[in-house]
Amino acid sequence: IPAPTRPRGRPPAALLSLPRPLPLLLLLLARLPVAGAAAGALSELRVRVRLPDGQVTEETLQADSAADCISLELRKGDGTLVTFTVDFKQEVKIFRALILGELERGQNQLQALCFVTRLHRNEIIPSESMAKLRQKNPRTVRQAEEVRVLEYLNMDVAVNFSKGAQLSSHIHNICSEAREAIYTREEDVKFWLEKGVDGSMFEVLPQSTDLPDLQRCRLCTDRWKPCICTYALNIEWYPCMLKYCKSRDPTGKVSTYKCGIRSCQKGYSFDFYVPQKQLCLWDEET
Ligand SMILES: *[C@@H]1O[C@H](CO)[C@@H](O)[C@H](O)[C@H]1NC(C)=O
Repeated sequence: IPAPTRPRGRPPAALLSLPRPLPLLLLLLARLPVAGAAAGALSELRVRVRLPDGQVTEETLQADSAADCISLELRKGDGTLVTFTVDFKQEVKIFRALILGELERGQNQLQALCFVTRLHRNEIIPSESMAKLRQKNPRTVRQAEEVRVLEYLNMDVAVNFSKGAQLSSHIHNICSEAREAIYTREEDVKFWLEKGVDGSMFEVLPQSTDLPDLQRCRLCTDRWKPCICTYALNIEWYPCMLKYCKSRDPTGKVSTYKCGIRSCQKGYSFDFYVPQKQLCLWDEET
């Protein structure tokens, strides 16, 4: 008697899917006598993403499951390069913006900013899942399924670059062009201090409460005066959650497995102290 055929519940048409456990691949990896196989996977995914101005850009997503980190990079329409790095081990996320300066306005060719803040649970999928992510059609232009609320962060503390590696080893690589402009928040510092991070790398920056003259750069007319600068960036597309599917084995037992991701978009707006308005020329009333 032939075994009853069971409908093979097709997984939903996910745009991006996690391959179901790949026995062949695992077998191959397991056979390789290299440390790398046991240490974890390093992967890169390139995704085409539509920017708010309608332009299409390419986003690169890298995952290293051994180091337990993710890095995402995209270039905005104005040439700014935005990098978002997640260090799960240290519970740290780092945003870096490399902004092209306007030479005719006396700015540096390139201005770098680094914002370091605490990583919360479930902000983004684990590095191990990210490393397994594949896409069926790399030409597809993607738009996030969910737009998360814009987050305002008051970056009131400076991070010393040479000591920053103690907070996350990534700071050394990612923020090297932003030595003088690495910012975090007092509330994040409190959290890291409780975890035993060395406090001498942090320096509280002047606040409007200490300096009544301290204005928003947008309202400040003197280029050489200190002010509070605002910089906003958008992570246009990132896998923020795992999707689960159900499958039924021949005995009828139901099990769930990871079968895809939900994509999100999120904006961040950072306020931080600059010693001169000159370092914040994008923040002008027009
Ligand atoms: C950062 O730390 C190094 C090493 O302790 C020190 O030499 C340097 O002066 C500090 N930088 C600032 C801006 O405080």
